[in-house]
Amino acid sequence: MRDSFGREVDYLRLSVTEGCNLSCIYCRDLQLGTVPFYRSMPSPGRCAEIVEAAASLGVRKVRITGGEPCTRADLPEIVGGIAAVPGIEEVCLTTNGTLIAPMASELRAAGLARVNVSLDTLDPERYRSITRGGSLDDVLAGLEALKEAGFEGTKLNCVLMPGINDDELEDFERFASDQDVEMRFIELMPIGPAADLYFGTVPFSGKTARTEPSQKRGKPRRRNRPQLQVIAPLSEPFCATCNRIRVTADGFAKPCLHSAEEIDLNGMHGKDLEDALRRAILAKPAGHTLASGSSGSLRDMSRIGG
Ligand code: 5AD
Repeated sequence: MRDSFGREVDYLRLSVTEGCNLSCIYCRDLQLGTVPFYRSMPSPGRCAEIVEAAASLGVRKVRITGGEPCTRADLPEIVGGIAAVPGIEEVCLTTNGTLIAPMASELRAAGLARVNVSLDTLDPERYRSITRGGSLDDVLAGLEALKEAGFEGTKLNCVLMPGINDDELEDFERFASDQDVEMRFIELMPIGPAADLYFGTVPFSGKTARTEPSQKRGKPRRRNRPQLQVIAPLSEPFCATCNRIRVTADGFAKPCLHSAEEIDLNGMHGKDLEDALRRAILAKPAGHTLASGSSGSLRDMSRIGG
């Protein structure tokens, strides 16, 4: 359906857990360590129910996010349930890749179409620092397993942080080419703990690896490898063509990543659930407020779904 600014909303980002095996410095508020995650894990049935309601409003694509979705052993079941919803054409996943290896082929069989892997550095020591304890080898094993399972169109997401990893552009270019994956550099958004990292730094201008805006959100061109994209929510906001709605793992619809507004879906079913999602779509603001220096969101990224 169209929102109140005429944008067709056909894309749902559904977070299936707030739990994550990593604690990236820009993503996760450390005080969250004590939040009991079991309270925010929709069952596979509930995921399908939410997606069904969204599909009846015109949603065609679903991206599963978290937290880290692969912390859930029942992720293949979640994928299968969502993929079976009439009207859903594509189910994708965003993951840090460290836990996906053992379940990659099962996810593929369940109907998962494509995977985006978050990877902010190719240096093992840096990886450990940025993720607060993660192992780069686990991501590499994950990428390998995705290939073996037959996934195509895998993308790497790298959040560029001035002074932290912005000297690795060329390494990433080479790596993406070797791995035959698309590389996406993402401008750091001042949200949650990232706000502290962000201030006092220069926003990434994206000059070095920019693709033409028309290609930015389109299909990658084959043959001209490596595929590089720059996603710059601050320098080049794409709110005017925003087609998405989000649902958090604890059951709140978020009309905009950067607004404080949340619509509680808990306890809702059938027509009520559909109406609540419709309200969320109609509540989508024209654009985010990042230009004013901060996100209006009250949650950090790990509790929204990246
Ligand atoms: N700014 C930009 N990207 C972010 N992500 C998480 N937090 C931020 C932030 N503050 C990214 C993750 C993941 C994607 C889904 O969102 O690294 O790759």
